[in-house]
Amino acid sequence: MISIKHINEKDIDLCYELDSSTISFWTKKQWASEFKKEGIKVVGLFISNVVIGICVFHVVLDEAQINFFVVNQKYRKKGYGTYLMNYLIKQCQTLNINKLLLEVSFTNTTAEKFYNHFDFYTVGKRTNYYKDGSDALLKEKKLTTK
Ligand SMILES: CC(C)(COP(=O)(O)OP(=O)(O)OC[C@H]1O[C@@H](n2cnc3c(N)ncnc32)[C@H](O)[C@@H]1OP(=O)(O)O)[C@@H](O)C(=O)NCCC(=O)NCCS
Repeated sequence: MISIKHINEKDIDLCYELDSSTISFWTKKQWASEFKKEGIKVVGLFISNVVIGICVFHVVLDEAQINFFVVNQKYRKKGYGTYLMNYLIKQCQTLNINKLLLEVSFTNTTAEKFYNHFDFYTVGKRTNYYKDGSDALLKEKKLTTK
């Protein structure tokens, strides 16, 4: 059975395990400091209590920045990313957020196509943004609040 749950700091290991087995984006220490930021929300997509996707977003006033968005490799291209993103969009609308922002590597065409699917538009570029020296595209989606 599929479910979405909010994750708090006591379940940091779930986050770190999914991260380190997929994109190796943050160390455990970085996850811990992410959880401590004000306005951070962490949402997990579960199938029978196993986490298969995680989204971290940071709410600041009427904007939210997606800081982490991953689906376990084994479950990709089956619509789970869409499920998680649709949940996130609804959550943001409930919170009266007007704009969703994110950065995606210039080289990550899969993720870029995924975000384009949800009408995220490229609004800028951050040069030399990632550890490997690649640039990031800054993308945003305008939301209509409910
Ligand atoms: C990006 C990601 C979250 C997509 O999750 P997913 O569960 O595979 O996505 P979905 O199955 O819901 O796909 C939705 C749409 O995204 C696009 N998409 C997804 N994977 C794609 C791929 N490999 N190539 C091209 N388009 C793709 C398609 O438009 C797809 O729609 P379609 O199935 O009608 O063609 C997943 O690939 C992932 O976790 N990637 C690694 C982490 C990452 O790069 N995160 C972003 C960091 S900024």
